[in-house]
Amino acid sequence: MKYRIGISQCSDDIWRNKQNAELRMGAYFHDNVELKFAAAYDSDERQVQQIDSLVNDGIDLMIVAPNQVQTISPAIDRAYEKGIPVIVFERKTSSRKYTAFIGADNYEMGRMMGEYIASRLHGQGTVLEIKGLEGSSSAIERHNGFMNALKDTPGIKIVGSLQGDWTEESAVEAMKQWLADNPDNRVDCVFGHNDRMAMGARTAIAKSSLATIHVPLFCGIDGLPGENGGIQLVRDSLLDASYIYPTHGDQIIELAVSILEGKPYKKETMLMSALVTSDNAKVLLMQSEELMRQADHLDQLHNKADNYLHELDTQRIVNWLAIGIIALLIVIFVLFYLYHLRKISMQRERVVNTLWNMEPQKASPSPSKGGDVQIDDATQNSVSSGNQTSPLEGTGEASPFLSRFREAVEARLSDSDLSVDDLAADMNLSRVQLYRKVKAVTGSSPVELLRTARLNRAYQLLLTTDKSVSEVAYAVGFTAPSYFTKCFKEEYGMVPGDVRK
Ligand code: FRU
Repeated sequence: MKYRIGISQCSDDIWRNKQNAELRMGAYFHDNVELKFAAAYDSDERQVQQIDSLVNDGIDLMIVAPNQVQTISPAIDRAYEKGIPVIVFERKTSSRKYTAFIGADNYEMGRMMGEYIASRLHGQGTVLEIKGLEGSSSAIERHNGFMNALKDTPGIKIVGSLQGDWTEESAVEAMKQWLADNPDNRVDCVFGHNDRMAMGARTAIAKSSLATIHVPLFCGIDGLPGENGGIQLVRDSLLDASYIYPTHGDQIIELAVSILEGKPYKKETMLMSALVTSDNAKVLLMQSEELMRQADHLDQLHNKADNYLHELDTQRIVNWLAIGIIALLIVIFVLFYLYHLRKISMQRERVVNTLWNMEPQKASPSPSKGGDVQIDDATQNSVSSGNQTSPLEGTGEASPFLSRFREAVEARLSDSDLSVDDLAADMNLSRVQLYRKVKAVTGSSPVELLRTARLNRAYQLLLTTDKSVSEVAYAVGFTAPSYFTKCFKEEYGMVPGDVRK
């Protein structure tokens, strides 16, 4: 059975991209899992629509990161109430109507960041916070944890908590505004709820007069590996610290499959996470690059395997086609062979039946030019103008004229010099008389009949004696066996050798 899993992402950014790649990778390990992705680009309205349409598409399970807590919950509840298992990941809803939750502890992350900054500033200094999208659980929890960590450190003053929306641009704008509103305020550290916003604040400050007096520390969250990810930014001292916000897409798929297969699973899974500072950034970067390399290999292997499977499928189709064609050819060949055998046996029958029953056509005599040929009564009775049967085919009584002619022919069949003149002489007729009479009665000329008689006798001899083809050829008055073979083939559609097969 194929499981269709719908994934509703609240956003589309490098963090989500990494996670989506891991989700896909996780699905590679399950032949029966199909993923359907939807990204809401930070819009509640769009995410609600996408969730509803995934449900209508008949997905078997939904994985969802809700953009904001309150606004998305009703759509998730609807899916859950329809009996679709729901995994809420990374951000939370306001309801308990979900099958499982998997994500990191955002409160703890904010708290750890607060403690880190307090110690980094030696308990003295000013801090500016740039919050993530208002209403998203991760922003609410990071803020609460952060505030809580600093509430017992009187030397640290929070000079502002600006509103961002997770994007870098939102932080650039918020920071610019704050600098304009607070030209004399000094900031020692900016804490962005994610690395992108921390970098946005940095960009805005770099362009301001504050940069010439004093550059604050910048801290964020996400700690992504790879080019321009948080770990690299810390290693390159563009960020002072980050916090790895785990993506773990493959683990989410494992959880989904356990739920779908009715296996035991944990309702709440908290993912482990860690602070990234200049102390460990280099090592973490090396490790994460190694992991990415492995993941890339896995991806390539999967693609290769996919290609092989595809080729195998095509090969299978080609094989079946080839088998079909071969089977068809065999059938055609067998049918053809049977037809050939039948033709030969019919031919044999015809020759055996007709040779000694040479008979005239039943027809009225053909008009004789000049009227010099008189056909006797018996002949007249048996001549037929419309009948196309062979003159040698017999179905009834033989006419006396034809019987005489046959006797004359057969008596000298082996004589290769036998001519129509000889035959006419044997029958006491002139050459012309013989020709006209024979033609009128049989529709064929004496020469044609002579040739047919020779070939018929040859057929007989081939059937009833052990004589070789050459011997037979000579026996029926042919002087060259090759010419005999040619004539035989013309007459019977096969070579003499075939008669014995
Ligand atoms: C990605 C993201 C991350 C952030 C998380 C908060 O969409 O904005 O940068 O840590 O969501 O939910």
